Amino acid sequence: MKPSHRRPIIAANWKMHMTPQESIEFLRPFLRHFTRELPLDTVICPPYISLPAATEVLSDVKQVGLGAQNMSAEPAGAFTGEISARMLKELNVEYVILGHSERRAIYGETDAEINRKLITALEVRFKPIFCIGETLEERDGGKVEEVLQRQLVHGLESIGPRRVTEVVIAYEPVWAIGTGRTATPEQAQETHAYIRSVLSEMYGEDTAQKIRIQYGGSVKPGNAAELLSQTDIDGALVGGASLEPGSFFEIIRNVAEAIPGESA
Ligand code: 13P
Repeated sequence: MKPSHRRPIIAANWKMHMTPQESIEFLRPFLRHFTRELPLDTVICPPYISLPAATEVLSDVKQVGLGAQNMSAEPAGAFTGEISARMLKELNVEYVILGHSERRAIYGETDAEINRKLITALEVRFKPIFCIGETLEERDGGKVEEVLQRQLVHGLESIGPRRVTEVVIAYEPVWAIGTGRTATPEQAQETHAYIRSVLSEMYGEDTAQKIRIQYGGSVKPGNAAELLSQTDIDGALVGGASLEPGSFFEIIRNVAEAIPGESA
C-alpha cells in the first residue's frame, strides 16, 4: 500500500501535437468529465504555442493544472528560440517537464544543463517533472542502476532536501516510450523502489518518502491502475494515450477508482 501523503499525479505530455485550436477542442469535452473532485492531480502539458489557449480555457478550473514541456535555464537575453520561466509564469503554468529522453537524445541535453533548468524552475516555484530513464541498450547491458543513479545525482546537484520535495520524478524507460511495450508493474515497481533508495541515500528516508515518482512509457487506460497500485509508483506521464479526451480521462478515472475508498 502506498503512503497516502503522496497524492497521485497524472500528466499528459502532448509532445509536438495539438495546435492552439486543437487544444481548445480537446479541453472543452475533457473538462466535462470532471463532475466531482478527484483524489489526484491532473496536469496537461501542451506545446508552448498552445499554452495561451489552454490557460484561457483552464482559467476557472481548479482540477487541471498546466505544464510546459521544456524551459530555458536562462532568465532572459540573446537566446533565439528559447522560452523563459517568467514567460511561462505569466500564463499560469505550474509544472514544467525537464530532461525528457527526447530532449536528451535528440537535442543533446546533458545532466548538467537539466540541473540548471531544475534550479531555475524551483527558484520561480514551478513543480518540475524531472525525467530519467535508461535505453534498451543500457538495460540489456545491466546498466539500469548506474544510469539512473547518474541522472539523479547530477540532475539534482545542489538542490536541497526542502526544495526537492517539489520535484516530481518521472521514470520513463526509453524502450517503453511510444513502443506499446510497457514495463510490467513488477519491473516498474522494482525500478521505482531503486530510485527511491537513491533519493533516500541523497536526502534521507523521510524526504525520499515524500517525493512523487511517476511512471511513463505506453501508459493506457488498460494498464494505468495496475501500475499505480504498486507501492512506489505515484503517477503516470502519458504520451500517446493523452491525445484523446476520452482515453486520457479513462486513465484518470481508472486510477481514481482504484484508490481505496474512492469511486469515480
Ligand atoms: P507514450 O505514452 O506515448 O509511450 O509516451 C510516453 C512519454 O514519453 C511521456 O513523456
